[in-house]
Amino acid sequence: PETITVGELANRMAERGADLVKALFKMGMPVTVNQSIDQDTAELLVTEFGHNIKRVSDSDVDLITSDDVDAAETLQPRPPVVTIMGHVDHGKTSLLDALRGTDVASGEAGGITQHIGAYQVQVKSGAKITFLDTPGHEAFSEMRARGANITDIVVIVVAGDDGLRPQTIEAISHTRAAGVPMIIAINKMDKPGSNAQRVREALLQHDVQVESMGGDVQEVEVSALKKTGLDELIEKIELQAELLELKANPDRAAEGTVVEATLDKGRGAVATILVGRGTLKVGDIFVVGAESGKVRALIDDKGRNIKEAGPSLPVEILGLSGVPSAGDQLSVVENEARAREVAAYRAGVIHQKRTTAAPASLESMFSALR
Ligand code: GTP
Ligand code: MG
Repeated sequence: PETITVGELANRMAERGADLVKALFKMGMPVTVNQSIDQDTAELLVTEFGHNIKRVSDSDVDLITSDDVDAAETLQPRPPVVTIMGHVDHGKTSLLDALRGTDVASGEAGGITQHIGAYQVQVKSGAKITFLDTPGHEAFSEMRARGANITDIVVIVVAGDDGLRPQTIEAISHTRAAGVPMIIAINKMDKPGSNAQRVREALLQHDVQVESMGGDVQEVEVSALKKTGLDELIEKIELQAELLELKANPDRAAEGTVVEATLDKGRGAVATILVGRGTLKVGDIFVVGAESGKVRALIDDKGRNIKEAGPSLPVEILGLSGVPSAGDQLSVVENEARAREVAAYRAGVIHQKRTTAAPASLESMFSALR
């Protein structure tokens, strides 16, 4: 019988492997991303996630195809999306700055990150990693929840001199709920008061067993200030990413997720999109949430105008009809009439949801934001 690994099917659906694993678990099948499932189960999952199936041959899972499920041969490796989480002031932005060789943290009002920064870094091996920096303030735990869901890997930053704090524990549970692997970065190791062992022991009390304690959660001691341990952190991210075998089809109409969106005085509505699959191009007509538009410009994380953006690249887009919400899905469509039609439909659906929905639980928020 033909089989397919959960990870491969996830790549072809442009869904998270972790989300498929969760759905299978609910269906009474506890499997990991690297395990195989049969054709019938694969088809059931595809339908469950709202995708269309076109079974090309009766016997061959590899030939399941449709606009929603990409053919196996179209998939290409894509960079991992890594979210940095942790307690306020534990050094998330500083760590990202160190990894990028820039200095965002010192320019921030009050040193607190107010929005989600999205960046792509090219590391020494030549590979690329996409990083999302989430706000540390408690009021934004909701945004962090979303951060965990568009992410492949979470790096949890714990200040070695401060230890586990409420938002560290929250970050751990968000990561678990999202089912994505975590890497623990024990930061501020340059500080005399830092004690990595104390952090490891505290983690154990929250059922996080790091490698040096005999567990399988990767850990690394770093100093964002002195720039130590950074290569090791990158190595661990790359190792984890390799296990996930992340792929996407770059040659199709783009789909992506809104990471943040604002109304800019000079430029109008601006949204940062993380491309999930396909390639977003200047001139593309799209629908995003209840808004629509035509890509007038694409701007990368270094402020440069670019012509196109492929899988895992965060990019700012101009040309929106209005400001979408974080978590909204962007889809490129064939023409403007179709864009207006889809946007109007979504506006109706969204209006209905807002007026009828009961307050969402954290779990349902995760799935709603898919
Ligand atoms: P929020 O965005 O507010 O959640 O904070 P954050 O987690 O992004 O922390 P941020 O990078 O703004 O750093 C907080 C403070 O810790 C700043 O004063 C940094 O200079 C300091 N800091 C960060 N990393 C290190 C480190 O490795 N060593 C030392 N000594 N200080 C650090
Ligand atoms: Mg910050």
